[in-house]
Amino acid sequence: MFADRMKALEAETPFEALAKAKALEKQGKKIIHLEIGEPDFDTPKNIKDAAARALRAGYTHYTPSAGMLEVRQAIAEYISKTRKLDVEAEEVVVTPGAKPVMFFSVLALVNPGEEVMYPNPGFPVYESVIKFVGAKPVPIPLREKNEFSFDPEYVKEKITKKTKMIILNSPENPTGGVISREQLNVLADCLENRDDVFVLSDEIYSRIIYEGSSGSIAQLPGMKDKTIILDGFSKTYAMTGWRLGYGVMRKDLAGKMAQLMTNSNSCTNAFVQLAGIEALRGPQTEMEKMVAEFKRRREVIVGGLNRIKGVTCKKPHGAFYAFPNITGTGMDSRSLGDYLLQNAGVAVLPGISFGQYGEGYLRLSFANSVENINKALARIETSLEMR
Ligand SMILES: Cc1ncc(COP(=O)(O)O)c(C=O)c1O
Repeated sequence: MFADRMKALEAETPFEALAKAKALEKQGKKIIHLEIGEPDFDTPKNIKDAAARALRAGYTHYTPSAGMLEVRQAIAEYISKTRKLDVEAEEVVVTPGAKPVMFFSVLALVNPGEEVMYPNPGFPVYESVIKFVGAKPVPIPLREKNEFSFDPEYVKEKITKKTKMIILNSPENPTGGVISREQLNVLADCLENRDDVFVLSDEIYSRIIYEGSSGSIAQLPGMKDKTIILDGFSKTYAMTGWRLGYGVMRKDLAGKMAQLMTNSNSCTNAFVQLAGIEALRGPQTEMEKMVAEFKRRREVIVGGLNRIKGVTCKKPHGAFYAFPNITGTGMDSRSLGDYLLQNAGVAVLPGISFGQYGEGYLRLSFANSVENINKALARIETSLEMR
């Protein structure tokens, strides 16, 4: 009954894991949620107020597919400032969340049979959409010994005539790895004579970074026209449910992406777009407080994990996930994830759900209170001792 292409799409494991945990909660179990990747903070009040004002002012209709001009201008101004790039409004496409930028970039640029390189372990949607368009996914392994950053020499070796796109994600989900400027330089050099290869640079965690900021590959000579910057409001401003994101890319590609918007969503919600202007231009104090709190929690969770027998954990440099090595427990990531849910009442994600190179790890989100993190760590330790 279903079209063949549907076989290629993968369900996103965090949502599946949440469903499992919710089922246990229905039976009366108390679960600590460290599986879902969204800030546990409320959206700052100034942003909510701006949306309410826009709603009352009648912004309840369609907007242009690529977004309202003033919103695209505010995003262009923000990207120009934060990435030290000259970006114009016409190079910005506003989307309902940042995820569509992933999907639309691949739909607009990649033909069946072409190759797309992507980080592994990495955000599962990359591999899913690459397969969906009939292209070949080529994983870029991210290794713990390299601080989970990617190895540009490996990428250099694996680039072929068929390579059409390279996906980067820094800071990275699930590892917290950050790509250094030197690594970006090597990649940019190797793409110098390949104007047919595009880079999708997923910078959704660009503001949630604790050390080692590398900037964007779009800043490097010759790279702006070959790069699509993916960013948005979900993580930075605790706005996951609002669905507001954007892509920044050359104008002809922005036109194609606007067509994809016309054919799928028509446009992004009008009053939500206007709230985006307030998020970017209004006070940044709430966001800064949130990042400072994530940094504090990082110390708690990494310290705690390293005290558990069989577990070691490197400090993530960005995002809000710890990615401990669990090989010392003797269990694979899926069995350990299930064991912890059932026996410790702690929901985490198995590393394998982020690709084959994620085996041997778990992802624990620290978008939860220090109190809950400490409780979860104690429960994990006890349940592992009881095996
Ligand atoms: C690496 C990465 N990119 C993109 C997204 C999608 O963001 P949005 O909620 O704005 O669609 C996420 C969300 O989890 C993510 O982790």
